[in-house]
Amino acid sequence: MSDYQYIITEEEGPVGIVWLNRPKVLNALNRAMVREILQAFEAYGQDDRIRVILIAGKGKAFAAGADIDEMAEEDSVSLELLNQFADWDRIGQIKKPIIGSVHGYCLGGGFELALLCDLLFAANDAKFAFPEINLAVMPGAGGTQRLTKLLGKTKALEWIWSGDMISAEEAFSSGIVNKLYPAEAIFEEALKFAKKLAEKPPLAVRLIKEAVNKAVDYPLQEGMYFERKNFYLLFSSQDQKEGMKAFMEKRKPDFKGY
Ligand code: CAA
Repeated sequence: MSDYQYIITEEEGPVGIVWLNRPKVLNALNRAMVREILQAFEAYGQDDRIRVILIAGKGKAFAAGADIDEMAEEDSVSLELLNQFADWDRIGQIKKPIIGSVHGYCLGGGFELALLCDLLFAANDAKFAFPEINLAVMPGAGGTQRLTKLLGKTKALEWIWSGDMISAEEAFSSGIVNKLYPAEAIFEEALKFAKKLAEKPPLAVRLIKEAVNKAVDYPLQEGMYFERKNFYLLFSSQDQKEGMKAFMEKRKPDFKGY
């Protein structure tokens, strides 16, 4: 259990679960809530017992965006002074795998939070959109950048300009969602996958995340160089010795995370 106001954390073995918990406002993300998400992620990042982080929403939605009530009276100077998106940037630096379990609305800042996840599992009822255009603003927590890297310019512009609701099916066929499940099964299926991933050697999981993320930003040759360094690095780990020894001894490996 935890002392957070807007989220709930719980652990299922090696999986650290973060529940968005403002169901009355469809988990609209105010600044304090984003700070709590970051704190929970960073705490799990430091916790050796936790190998995978899972995030989901309580109630009818994953998250219907940034809290409009909180934002409405801001101006450019106040947002700059608040450094509004610094916590979001730090969420993007978490080294452990983050899995998103999305049902219901996943809009605006909620969609941006989902795009910060490494893998996304969605319920058939999930609806994705960037409705900021209808408020005469635009995504500000990475939406224009991350969506474009995933979908390409043409689709990203269509989705962000229109603000239209994108069905779970379309999100899946566009490649931003890994798997679709019925709403009643989504969380358990995401948890099942998280537990499976938690059995993999954690250092390899972490260095793979780092290398794949580099592929998004780096030219191929630099990415290859980065991959190779991580590949070599893993050969200094106890888990590499254990993994290969266990293979040769025909037994299940016991990975320690170092
Ligand atoms: N901020 C604040 N409150 C929100 C909210 C949000 N993003 N989304 C929903 N709520 C609140 C509603 O005001 C309502 O509160 P009350 O009961 O006190 O009136 C409650 O949640 C339930 O919502 P609705 O009654 O509107 O539910 P609905 O089923 O009729 O409609 C909806 C659902 C289509 C998602 C609608 O709530 C909606 O359009 N929400 C706003 C979506 C949006 O524009 N998100 C983008 C925000 S901007 C952003 O995210 C910027 C960024 O990049 C960081």
